[in-house]
Amino acid sequence: MTWDIRGKNVLITGATSGLGLEASVELARRGARITMVGRDPGRTAAAVAEVRRRSGSAEVASLLCDFASQADVRRLAGDVLARHDRLDVLINNAGGVNKDRLLTVDGIERTFAVNHLGYFLLTTRLTDLLVKSAPARIVVVASEGHRHGTLDFDDLGFARGGYKIMRAYGRSKLANVLFANELARRLAGTGVTANSLHPGAVDTNIWNGAPGWAKPLITVLLRPFFLSVERGAATLVHLAASPEVEGVTGRYFVKNRPVHPARRAQDEALAQRLWEVSAAMVGE
Ligand SMILES: NC(=O)c1ccc[n+]([C@@H]2O[C@H](COP(=O)([O-])OP(=O)(O)OC[C@H]3O[C@@H](n4cnc5c(N)ncnc54)[C@H](OP(=O)(O)O)[C@@H]3O)[C@@H](O)[C@H]2O)c1
Repeated sequence: MTWDIRGKNVLITGATSGLGLEASVELARRGARITMVGRDPGRTAAAVAEVRRRSGSAEVASLLCDFASQADVRRLAGDVLARHDRLDVLINNAGGVNKDRLLTVDGIERTFAVNHLGYFLLTTRLTDLLVKSAPARIVVVASEGHRHGTLDFDDLGFARGGYKIMRAYGRSKLANVLFANELARRLAGTGVTANSLHPGAVDTNIWNGAPGWAKPLITVLLRPFFLSVERGAATLVHLAASPEVEGVTGRYFVKNRPVHPARRAQDEALAQRLWEVSAAMVGE
């Protein structure tokens, strides 16, 4: 049967602003049943109200999670399992940048913890539910920033120095593409697909995290080229909702089309190693 997003259960993280909020509106408009994940109760309630208002749909719920805490991600997964007997689409989207090197409560560099290990832990905890609900889709919001990313397994958190905002971000986004590809291999034959994407350079709150000196440069050099948040969210919506990508898995999308990610992101041995290291880092 052709994929039809109407009535499908969609869980989307980072749904309180930017791409996640906009994708929630569009998917709710198309008739999906959305669960929006936010970390702040007030912002999350406001985002749910906005999605209901703009989409005209009442099928919009929310759950809370701070992805900087592994205990909280486990609790979120438990809440999803308690609430839903099926999950058709999981969109891993929550993420950000950090000017300074920060550690989470679990002692892990925050960019890697939130942007990659958060996706990893939530997805692995929900995989059985996704497989039970197949056909189902996992969408991983990565970035073209992955092309500058490197993985140093001896120092994933830059403890020995060399921390830079975009180095940490690039590392986490390389991990996103490798993770989606490895998921696709591990889930082959189950009816669950996994793809990653770059949404474009989009005018969202993520740029507020840039260092002060970079903000005028962003305004002058980048902002004129930014996509609207609606256009940025289009690739998330495409991978979640379009019948065109039915059965497509292990691909990296830009502007709704599959493109080749960086060579490093296609390295199967690297993806396998990242999986093992990530599993150890979240104690799974
Ligand atoms: N904008 C771009 O140009 C661009 C380009 C490439 C890739 N991306 C990717 O797109 C995704 C969404 O970013 P965006 O541009 O829409 O930025 P955004 O407007 O800043 O949205 C980020 C979302 O993630 C949430 N989030 C951040 N840290 C979190 C945490 N520790 N726990 C739970 N939620 C957390 C934020 O929640 P709060 O509202 O509570 O802060 C917000 O809902 C990210 O993965 C980003 O890497 C963006």
